[in-house]
Amino acid sequence: MIPLAVDAATAFQLPPQATDYAARYDTLFSVLFWGSVFFFVVLIGPMTYFAIRYRRKDDDAPAKPTPHELTHNTAVELFWIFVPLVLVMVLFGWGYYQYSDATIAPANAMTIRVTGMIKPSWQWEFEYPDGTVTSEVHVPIGRPVKFLITSKDTLHSFYAPAMRLKMDAVPGRFTSWWFEPKEPGAYQIFCAEYCGDAHSQMRSVLVVEPKEAFERWLGENADPSKLPPAEWGRKIYEGKGGCVACHSIDGSPRVGPSWKGLWGSTRMLADGTTAVFDENYVMESVYEPQKKKAKGFENGFMNSYKGILDEREIHAIIEFMKTLK
Ligand code: CUA
Repeated sequence: MIPLAVDAATAFQLPPQATDYAARYDTLFSVLFWGSVFFFVVLIGPMTYFAIRYRRKDDDAPAKPTPHELTHNTAVELFWIFVPLVLVMVLFGWGYYQYSDATIAPANAMTIRVTGMIKPSWQWEFEYPDGTVTSEVHVPIGRPVKFLITSKDTLHSFYAPAMRLKMDAVPGRFTSWWFEPKEPGAYQIFCAEYCGDAHSQMRSVLVVEPKEAFERWLGENADPSKLPPAEWGRKIYEGKGGCVACHSIDGSPRVGPSWKGLWGSTRMLADGTTAVFDENYVMESVYEPQKKKAKGFENGFMNSYKGILDEREIHAIIEFMKTLK
């Protein structure tokens, strides 16, 4: 289950701080925010007061000429040039230091490749140093992790609010951020760059866990085809197939029909005929999704999975569908 990024009870506040970096980031954010509030009050407050206090009351009275000696005040002007200059240089230096901190990983970091994509579906894919490919990312406590980020197609943005880290995923280029996993837990990952119809569903989970749990998880994912078919099917649904972006399993509507209760049912098709939702209907819908569209989903834009999912994988998905009563 994907956790919420923000605790509902503290939704006004920022998400939890899952790293030391997040705490430092929030300090800088607070300085910027409350500094802006301070200067807003100091500047706009007197301005409002003067505008009211010294407004022109009598329309007939001629405007008073500015006295000759009142042209400028060098001391005040210099003050108001150098004070903001120092303030913005401090903020620049501080921000630059934190940016370097977030993007230059220590040499002993474990590198995980992150790829954003919209085909076959909107999703994040993670590749570990041993070649294991997964749809959610687990990391062990006690070793820095570097994400090497790219995209297969268009601009995405790899965003983990609890880590206060966000980086564009750009086709044809690698970008990166790193962090030191400390607080165990499951944290939301978003795509923070609008990338098409199912952008809002392009989510994943970052799980921080002890080394032993991480290694067990990685081992299970090295070859998911060894799992019972229904469990493997769920992994394909969430991961490799990315079906989750367009098909819910709880009956809620998305771009495509929910899978809940579909198995064995009789489907109304867009052309007015019907079809039984069985093995061959699933196989055909995966390989030629435009052929027998369900009623109400005439505008579905699903791509063919030919060459992406083989017959064994489709069978696993079918076994998973059977569990969604
Ligand atoms: Cu990928 Cu938005």
